Amino acid sequence: MARRKKRGAAAAAAAAAQAPRRQQPQPQPQPAAAAPNAEVAAAPEDLVLRPPNLRVAFAAMALFLAPFSYLAFVHYPLDADLRRSILICGAISFAGFFVVLRLIPVAACYLHRRKLFGKDINKKGLPTGDIDVPESLGIVVGIVYLVIAILFQQFNFAADSIWLVEYNAALASVCFMILLGFIDDVLDIPWRVKLLLPGIAALPLLMAYAGGTSIIIPKPLASYVGVEVLELGWLYVIFMFLLAVFCTNSINIHAGLNGLEVGQTVVISAAVLVHNVMRIGSSKDLETQQAHAFSIYLVLPFLTTSLALLGFNWYPSSVFVGDTYTYFAGMTLAVVGILGHFSETLLLFFLPQVLNFLCSLPQLLKIVHCPRHRLPSFDTQTGLLTATENGNLVNIFLRLFGKCSEKSLCIRLLIFQALSCLFCFWLRYMLTGWYK
Ligand code: UD1
Ligand code: MG
Repeated sequence: MARRKKRGAAAAAAAAAQAPRRQQPQPQPQPAAAAPNAEVAAAPEDLVLRPPNLRVAFAAMALFLAPFSYLAFVHYPLDADLRRSILICGAISFAGFFVVLRLIPVAACYLHRRKLFGKDINKKGLPTGDIDVPESLGIVVGIVYLVIAILFQQFNFAADSIWLVEYNAALASVCFMILLGFIDDVLDIPWRVKLLLPGIAALPLLMAYAGGTSIIIPKPLASYVGVEVLELGWLYVIFMFLLAVFCTNSINIHAGLNGLEVGQTVVISAAVLVHNVMRIGSSKDLETQQAHAFSIYLVLPFLTTSLALLGFNWYPSSVFVGDTYTYFAGMTLAVVGILGHFSETLLLFFLPQVLNFLCSLPQLLKIVHCPRHRLPSFDTQTGLLTATENGNLVNIFLRLFGKCSEKSLCIRLLIFQALSCLFCFWLRYMLTGWYK
């Protein structure tokens, strides 16, 4: 009986998503008590989700996948087997895009019913600021992503492949991170504890890591250090731990505008894919090629499933992604950076996040008061955002370029992210041969 009821809820929510209604979720009276069996009392139809912005999702897909596809299938004469694997991965990832599109309205309904929703702070004072926006929809992307990544092993790795161990360790860390992120969304864990969650989630990867623990010293520094290759041993494990903690938290604190959380990871993922294919195309070393192919197989499904979420999260957001998504995204990018051996390049792609983190340090370290949300203030008269004294990139951009709408601010920050990635490619090009 209960089962039939649940299926009814899913069907109703999916139907609601299809309906061409242009409205926000309706503020409905909440069930009086959050008793465990409250779903019986709550009507499953209580949430009508606005359809996703497919124009943005498909435009972003074309924009961000075009350079990678061109390089992989036209520019570089890649191995036929590798191309086949990329094509299979791309096809499953594309299917994942549609699965996420279909599942988000269903999951949003269930999350909303369990009171997992937030208010849109940058619309405070407007009727849209009073609406309950379902939170933690990153859980859908995370689950679909994991299913794709697990299934894909069938198409690429031989049973005795050494990559299989690291691939599964990477997936275990990502899965652990999704779990901890979701726990954070449900329990609202204090900041200091929250900072360490990614370190715990990275453990499966750190324990299974069997790759090199040495770094190549940049040529200009080699004479000072005395060696060209420096063996770091367990210090390298600490470095991987710190990278995981940094990537996850830095994405989580560069947030709070509709579309920014997903937008920044989409831009970084596209840059990672281009970097991977360029390294495969320009390197003769088999291990390097495998490492970058490995990264492609993990990033491609991440990008497509995130694009589906972007359709719902773009301004005006009909769902929030939650810490489930920001942590999941950070961990996915960190594991590919670690196992693909391009953590330095990854950190250059993370330039806006590094700057945001540095500006945030006084508040994170509690030297300066740190409110729960460090967002700009919203003027209901003009509909524009104004900078507050909180130290982050969102406010700095408002101070530098003046008041603007939430959507424009998000687009400006995403353009800055893309420019940072281009700068990284330029820098790599300029330093090749001289630096390493
Ligand atoms: C981090 C930031 C906090 C920022 C928040 C926004 C630090 C130390 N913490 O906290 O300053 O306000 O992310 O995600 O820098 N929200 C919106 N619009 C959006 C996205 C989120 O209003 O487009 C609001 C909603 O009320 C949502 C809440 O932010 O419920 C989610 O915040 P949460 O992710 O829990 O905040 P933190 O990650 O702790
Ligand atoms: Mg967050």
